[in-house]
Amino acid sequence: MLMLRFLTFLFIGIGIFGTITAVEISEEWWRDSFIYHLYPRSFKDSDGDGIGDLNGITSKLEYLVDIKVSAVWIGPFYKSPMIDFGYDITNFTGVDPIFGTLDDFKKLTSKAKSLGLKVMLDFVPNHSSDQHHWFQKSIKRIKPYDNYYVWADAKIINGTRQPPNNWLSLFQGTAWTWNDERKQYYLHQFAAAQPDFNFRDESLNEEMKDVLRFWLNTGVDGFRIDTIPSLIEDTRLLDEPRLPNTGLPDTDSDTLRHIYTYDQDETYDVLKSWREVLDDSPGPKKIFLTEAYSSLADVMKYYDYGSNIPMNFMFLGELNNRSTAYDFKRKIDPYLNAIPDGQSANWVVGNHDRFRVATRFGPKRADQLTMLAAVLPGVGVIYNGDELGMENRVMTWEETVDPPGCNAGPLRYKTTSRDPMRTPFQWDNSTSAGFSINNKTWLPVHPNYKTINLAAQKLTAASHYNVFRRLAALKKNPVISKGTTKLVVINDIILGVIRRLPGKSPIVLLINFSDGSTHFDAAFSLNIPDKMSVYAASVGSHIKVGATFDTNRIELPGAASVILKLKSR
Ligand code: NOJ
Ligand code: MG
Ligand code: CA
Repeated sequence: MLMLRFLTFLFIGIGIFGTITAVEISEEWWRDSFIYHLYPRSFKDSDGDGIGDLNGITSKLEYLVDIKVSAVWIGPFYKSPMIDFGYDITNFTGVDPIFGTLDDFKKLTSKAKSLGLKVMLDFVPNHSSDQHHWFQKSIKRIKPYDNYYVWADAKIINGTRQPPNNWLSLFQGTAWTWNDERKQYYLHQFAAAQPDFNFRDESLNEEMKDVLRFWLNTGVDGFRIDTIPSLIEDTRLLDEPRLPNTGLPDTDSDTLRHIYTYDQDETYDVLKSWREVLDDSPGPKKIFLTEAYSSLADVMKYYDYGSNIPMNFMFLGELNNRSTAYDFKRKIDPYLNAIPDGQSANWVVGNHDRFRVATRFGPKRADQLTMLAAVLPGVGVIYNGDELGMENRVMTWEETVDPPGCNAGPLRYKTTSRDPMRTPFQWDNSTSAGFSINNKTWLPVHPNYKTINLAAQKLTAASHYNVFRRLAALKKNPVISKGTTKLVVINDIILGVIRRLPGKSPIVLLINFSDGSTHFDAAFSLNIPDKMSVYAASVGSHIKVGATFDTNRIELPGAASVILKLKSR
């Protein structure tokens, strides 16, 4: 395992005092780092149209270096009618003019390279836009496109035309739309404007491999694969069983057990074929992050087929602000035990599909998950703005533009719309939070930008920004990258995570799951030194970095989390 992890040790040159400097060049650059998930429409607008763009991102790359992330994963900026804001693609290798040009992208990657930042793209293989010429030709049964998509005949019941089965779109309602020209239904696991591809068609997969090759040739370092579990569906087109008592309308896809539309075995073989494409690409190792909200066993399987980071979404769904310290331990321990030898764990703190962490867990706990992601072994994945504690912006029905929100209607859109977590990045307190010179932006700026913004947080020692920078730096500490991990629950309400490596100071994370202040003896419960120093503390805890803690009588304020370490080591 160690062999695999640190493939290359290069001894470069003789230092000025004649000593040899060992520089560890890890081929596996993503390990023990934070990856920054950037939503391009909302990061930085360079041309004043109120929508973020590539030149905007390029102008802010220094910020990503400043917060010490290893890589940026940029959401889709390909040609798109923007029904699903870029996840509905008409040209997989073209840049949408909203975002700029291919040249702009090349400038972005070359600047990122010069800054030592890796760049990863969003690969969206499950579907295209219905405006894609492949789909238009598929409608007309023009070869080789005729089988590029999942087409099926209607079911005729009592003389009326019905979809082939009860499958539901994740964006509400039937997953089938009738095409009057081809006289068949097509499948769409998302919006009707996003027809699903048929990965049983070899030429289709060859096209998608070419897409990977195209972007690899521009010098990208990897891809996040969108919605991989829905890649392949069972050909028998059987109805999916209904789940009892969901309390949801029958049109909601969460009312079905997705045994025929998700996690099918052949999906893993397709991933393997893409892995080969990545491995053929010269230069530093390229990686895949895979998006799968699947069972632990199904998520683990992605490692065997070529994913480096099968994203771990336990902080987004399975754990919430009602979870106890025991709930966290009960989820984290089995996950860590399941990681195959030589592979890396990962912790997703937030993304553009789920409520922001400061909203899910409350502003006082905005740093809690990032601290866990930092102290636990492996990669942390952070969503832009979460490092500032940005919050969801409540949208009115009239302001709602996200398709799952619009499709759910005015009574339910608040539970399904993703607009609230996609508002513009809050750079400073100027017009549109410094995101755009335009005071009208594609989604409204959160009104709290006057106080929650990067410029203000840079000037405040106890800020989410400063906490995050310390956390990202901590990832490089050998105790974090190589040490042992133990989770202990103290007094039923404190979760302790202890990382140890012989000869080094232990690193200890303590999280108070109650809202009241709590006294406890961590020295005894965790077997740690009597006096330790505060390395980082959650914003609002009023605990100062560098303060000394008597670990045998700690008082931790309600909802606070703190990371302790010995000062000297
Ligand atoms: C997952 C993406 O994260 C989400 O934003 C998108 O709507 C769906 N996949 C469909 O591509
Ligand atoms: Mg713009
Ligand atoms: Ca599919």
